[in-house]
Amino acid sequence: DWTMEHVVDMEVEKIRAKVGERKVLCALSGGVDSSVVAALIHKAIGDQLTCIFVDHGLLRKHEADDVMRTLGDGFQMNIIKVDAKDRFLGKLAGVSDPEEKRKIIGNEFIYVFDDEADKLKNIDFLAQGTLYTDIIESGTETAQTIKSHHNVGGLPEDMQFELIEPLNTLFKDEVRALGTELGVPDHIVWRQPFPGPGLAIRILGEVSEDKLEIVRESDAILREEVKNAGLDRDIWQYFTVLPNIKSVGVMGDERTYDHTIGIRAVTSVDGMTSDWARIPWDVLEKISTRIVNEVDHINRVVYDVTSKPPATIEWE
Ligand code: XMP
Repeated sequence: DWTMEHVVDMEVEKIRAKVGERKVLCALSGGVDSSVVAALIHKAIGDQLTCIFVDHGLLRKHEADDVMRTLGDGFQMNIIKVDAKDRFLGKLAGVSDPEEKRKIIGNEFIYVFDDEADKLKNIDFLAQGTLYTDIIESGTETAQTIKSHHNVGGLPEDMQFELIEPLNTLFKDEVRALGTELGVPDHIVWRQPFPGPGLAIRILGEVSEDKLEIVRESDAILREEVKNAGLDRDIWQYFTVLPNIKSVGVMGDERTYDHTIGIRAVTSVDGMTSDWARIPWDVLEKISTRIVNEVDHINRVVYDVTSKPPATIEWE
């Protein structure tokens, strides 16, 4: 019978037959696909799997710790966490063009991954969370261009590894079911999409640690309140953006001149088109009040009510 348990058993057998006694490397991002691939391969070959998790310093609040706790401690996986924040922020200093930021982050990711992979000995395989849809989409040239700029996890072509892509016959919903079967917790299996360049493209213009702090803290409040309202599975993606504008406000008897934060929340099927989510006003009010009260340097909150097209989901 075609149950997920059966699929797991079959995939485990295939991986064991292919890998034998050899070793596999996996780039972990904390996203659904790479987490499920790692969990599956780990089930098949245990300690013969090593994961590299590059923390570029552009992740959401608690995200890096969560990956280490859930997959490292929970699954007892070998994970090398690379703290590369300074490297990435150094490269991003003074850069404000969105595509330039993407390129820098994508390239730096490869350099950091390469540096770590070079230190490991006797690795034969590289595991990737390629889905069936990724293969279909890369069929046309346009799609390939989109994919390459969207996929920060793209890896150098000259690496001497054989690829393992155990998800390449599956659709996203099947990957989620597989993850659940493997015991990957819901907050990873049902995680909303998060772009490879991370919070860097949610700060319009130049990225700095101060601005990252504002986006990270406001995003954490938004996520908490969306979850509290029970809306986290209905909304495709929801996050805050720092548009880099200051406006006048008043706090107590004081006039303030500080940052505006934007809330973006959309419903969508595949991210290609989207509509703005009709979050109830009382939920928005709570989010707004909490952000202004709890996050320094925010005196105004705005809600993005634009569909895609004409706007994109991200602001950069
Ligand atoms: P846009 O902003 O183009 O986003 O409407 C569509 C979906 O793609 C995600 N996105 C990215 N993902 N690297 C990624 O891995 C990127 O550079 C990137 N830009 C956008 C976005 O979060 C949304 O889910």
